[in-house]
Amino acid sequence: MSTVNSSLDKIRQEALQEVREAATIAALEQVRIKYLGKKGAITALMKEMGSLSPEERPAFGAVINQVKQDVETSIEECRTTVRRKEREESLRAEAVDITLPGYRRGVGTVHPLNRVCQDIIDTFTSMGFSVAEGPEVELDFYNFESLNFPPNHPARDMQDTFFISEDVVLRTHTSPVQIRVMERCKPPVKIIAPGKVYRCDADVTHTPMFHQIEGLLVDEKVTFSDLKGTLEFFIHRFFGPETGVRFRPSFFPFTEPSAEVDIQCVICGGKGCRVCKGTGWLEILGAGMVHPNVFRSVGYDPEEVTGFAFGMGIERITMLRYRIDDIRVLFENDLRFLRQF
Ligand code: DAH
Repeated sequence: MSTVNSSLDKIRQEALQEVREAATIAALEQVRIKYLGKKGAITALMKEMGSLSPEERPAFGAVINQVKQDVETSIEECRTTVRRKEREESLRAEAVDITLPGYRRGVGTVHPLNRVCQDIIDTFTSMGFSVAEGPEVELDFYNFESLNFPPNHPARDMQDTFFISEDVVLRTHTSPVQIRVMERCKPPVKIIAPGKVYRCDADVTHTPMFHQIEGLLVDEKVTFSDLKGTLEFFIHRFFGPETGVRFRPSFFPFTEPSAEVDIQCVICGGKGCRVCKGTGWLEILGAGMVHPNVFRSVGYDPEEVTGFAFGMGIERITMLRYRIDDIRVLFENDLRFLRQF
């Protein structure tokens, strides 16, 4: 019996020693399995109780139960400590030093063309216009025919227009959006249509792709005075309330009468300079009263409704606003240029 007791005590010492040395929850579990698992050392000894005589059994049982309990208790205590240590360890590892400087994010800026376009849109939506869009690859019918371009009009010439096929073009202006909107909606109509347009042309003031904004207002009894008032409001808001405005007679197939609108030169204030070629005036847009043939092509009755339309180039207005003298810088994406905005 005493040999049994002493070997039990040895197992107990060993087990407790290993529990103390276990540094992780996983290691503790290994110790538990080694001594108390199904094939564990203490479990094995308990199974041997059957081979003892009935007199020996109670004393042995008491001792081995005590050993088992000691080991279990010690594992339990150790588990709590190890768990706390592991928590502290991971908190330490994940700690964030909130006094460190942050990472600097590269913040982009709005491209000057988008900024100008958005400002123009804002001015017109404040007057109740809504924004419309149309396709950049357009049928000849919308780009020319329905806009009252006579057959063989020079604007259809290969020099200006990119043809996709005989009757499909890259739109040369945003005016076809007028037609698409009027086909869909009954009057009154009050829209602006910003977008890309294409012409086969390239120099310091022309790029093969550029942007326009088209405006269209159709209702009963719309007059040329409405057109003047609307455009003057826009120009004064955009270029300043003192800016001089003048309407010059002009020609567009889709408007009658037609006008080109000039503003007093933003560079010299009207005295005459290189930018305005000494005239004191800068042309900024085309406009007019919608031609009756345009109304007929969309099924509107020109006896019942009248309307005005206008169109302007966004690049040109951007160049005037920021005094840019070469249109190409708007498309080169040189950061030294873009960062100035
Ligand atoms: N579509 C013309 C162009 O590209 C601009 C324009 C002129 C539009 C007069 C209009 C307008 O709506 O009435 O040059």
